[in-house]
Amino acid sequence: MSRPIILDCDPGHDDAIALILALAHPELSPLAVTTSAGNQTPDKTLNNALRILTLLNRSDIPVAGGAVKPLSRELIIADNVHGETGLDGPALPVPSFEPQAISAVELMAQKIRQSDKPVTLVPTGPLTNIALLLASHAELHAKIERIVLMGGAAGVGNWTPAAEFNIFVDPEAADIVFKSGIPITMCGLDVTHQAQIMDEDIERIRAIPNPVAKCVAELLDFFMIYHRDPKWGFVGAPLHDPCTIAWLLNPALFDAQDCWVGIETQSELTLGMTVVDRYQLTGKPANATVLFGIDRQGFVDLLVDSLAVYTPTYLNRR
Ligand code: BDR
Ligand code: CA
Repeated sequence: MSRPIILDCDPGHDDAIALILALAHPELSPLAVTTSAGNQTPDKTLNNALRILTLLNRSDIPVAGGAVKPLSRELIIADNVHGETGLDGPALPVPSFEPQAISAVELMAQKIRQSDKPVTLVPTGPLTNIALLLASHAELHAKIERIVLMGGAAGVGNWTPAAEFNIFVDPEAADIVFKSGIPITMCGLDVTHQAQIMDEDIERIRAIPNPVAKCVAELLDFFMIYHRDPKWGFVGAPLHDPCTIAWLLNPALFDAQDCWVGIETQSELTLGMTVVDRYQLTGKPANATVLFGIDRQGFVDLLVDSLAVYTPTYLNRR
């Protein structure tokens, strides 16, 4: 049985790869793709989602743009990681289709309402759209099976010493989501920094004879540049956002623990910190399944095997 999902993303190299991974698997049924402002400005992340879906020949998936800025703060973008377009590196097609004339929140609400089965939300950018959806459509909470998000860290941050980028951009939105009572899977830096793609893995991808694999290899060539800085201590580049999809496809690849997670929204020093109560020190009930470990080789093999699906025949089947 295929699991209905909605991807809310800010492509973004790793968002694009998460999308490509998800769409290779019929076990996942993407009802919509919505975009958040984050890695780049909202016009660019929307255009990038359309470009990736055009590459995949999936103009059948409705796309809508979301909030242009965080709930109560100015937008911060990560062009130092993702470049001027947000997807620098490969030559991507011009979008072959238009976004929906409704907002991300309206599209998500419509798809959740119409779905026979509860829907899983997969946000891989700042949580602005998801928070707006939850705040404006309380009647739909029961139809959201789970929120599988990339964001946060039990350990150190990657944008400030305390905060991960997606949560730091819109901590008030993250606070709403983590307090919603909807089951959450948190793919934070604890696990995504272990989900590194190495040079030899990128060469495996480049050797796959199809245009999507070629594009992913070129996305990764660019994504590697930022992560080669020795200060990170990485060997490869952390594939943050695809961890969400890998967990949906094969949770056995991951080690997880249910924990209470709180969001810091006040402190100047630790704004956007995800406070993870790993030792049940607060006595508060767990509100998230937090991923802490990954079978890296299994994860990379899943990605590489998935990319082989995109043969020219497969891409032209619609
Ligand atoms: C997150 O920030 C973005 O730059 C990536 O796309 C990922 O979602 C990692 O902190
Ligand atoms: Ca992202």
